[in-house]
Amino acid sequence: MPDFVPPPSAELHLHIEGTIEPEHIIEMSRRNGVPIPSMDVDELRARYAFSDLQSFLDLHYSNLTVLRTERDFFELATGYLDRAARANVRRAEIFFDPQTHIGNGTPLSVVMSGLTRALGDSERTHGISSALIMCFLRDLGAQAADEMLTAILPYREHIIGVGLDSTEIGYGPELFVDVYARAAAEGLRLVAHAGEEGGPETVAATIELLHVERIDHGIRAMEDPRVVELLRSRRIPVTVCPLSNVALRAVPSLAEHPLPRMLAEGLMVTVSSDDPPYFGGYVDANYRALVDELGMTAGDLEQLAMNSFDAAFITDAQRVHWQDEVRAHFA
Ligand code: ADE
Ligand code: ZN
Repeated sequence: MPDFVPPPSAELHLHIEGTIEPEHIIEMSRRNGVPIPSMDVDELRARYAFSDLQSFLDLHYSNLTVLRTERDFFELATGYLDRAARANVRRAEIFFDPQTHIGNGTPLSVVMSGLTRALGDSERTHGISSALIMCFLRDLGAQAADEMLTAILPYREHIIGVGLDSTEIGYGPELFVDVYARAAAEGLRLVAHAGEEGGPETVAATIELLHVERIDHGIRAMEDPRVVELLRSRRIPVTVCPLSNVALRAVPSLAEHPLPRMLAEGLMVTVSSDDPPYFGGYVDANYRALVDELGMTAGDLEQLAMNSFDAAFITDAQRVHWQDEVRAHFA
């Protein structure tokens, strides 16, 4: 399929820190005087082989020590938006992990300034509408999440919602009930990672306890028909990242990925890239792999792209406009 053109879509599961390319890591290491294990791109890339989520997170957080300045965050987000535009992304709802950067000694004001400068008027500069979702690092616990929510409130106008990421096993949704309730009271939209490594019961608990509007990953929901029914009956979108799931061994191979079954079950599945340079590609590569390795049809891709706009936190007018573009793409 030499002339594959990805559909217009909304990318709803993308960690901006996870878009750092090895070339960026080396450049920022040099610029900021932060040592890294190798200054060779191929050697850095050779480390991108993972056995599970934690093995990725360990490398991911270690690479992120190079991010220090407003310029770094601006360049990071600009790099992603430029690349996503080439993948036909029309809307990007972008996760960021401020606790990581504060832990590395970078003030929140620096992070927010760099990201918001890159995203500001992104429709004009990159052809993409964009928004920020602040994630709590679940392994830092409830108290730290609560403090992070308080710290971000002066920047309330720059974020549309909160999410929950990092180590899933051992840090269940029950820890974050209060902070999610506080975020909801602030009018923030609610999403959370669940069912990437944790079982279907964690997906159900995340929905019931945190009242999230979307589930990020959610693939293990398929192991329990009651959780599938919960997602279907409440029309809760699931942001699936196929290449990520293979790279982190959440599924044995793409051919065995549950995504086709999720669509067949009538779930509102969307496709995203998670942390693209680490997992083998941006959202266009994910769509393409679904065709090449899972035999998905143009009709399936159209459904996934339509779903992405149904699941996005956008206006009705935006939804109608972009879904018309999806129909035209497949006409
Ligand atoms: N942080 C970045 N990528 C992640 C993922 N796939 N799961 C949990 N936390 C993450
Ligand atoms: Zn993720």
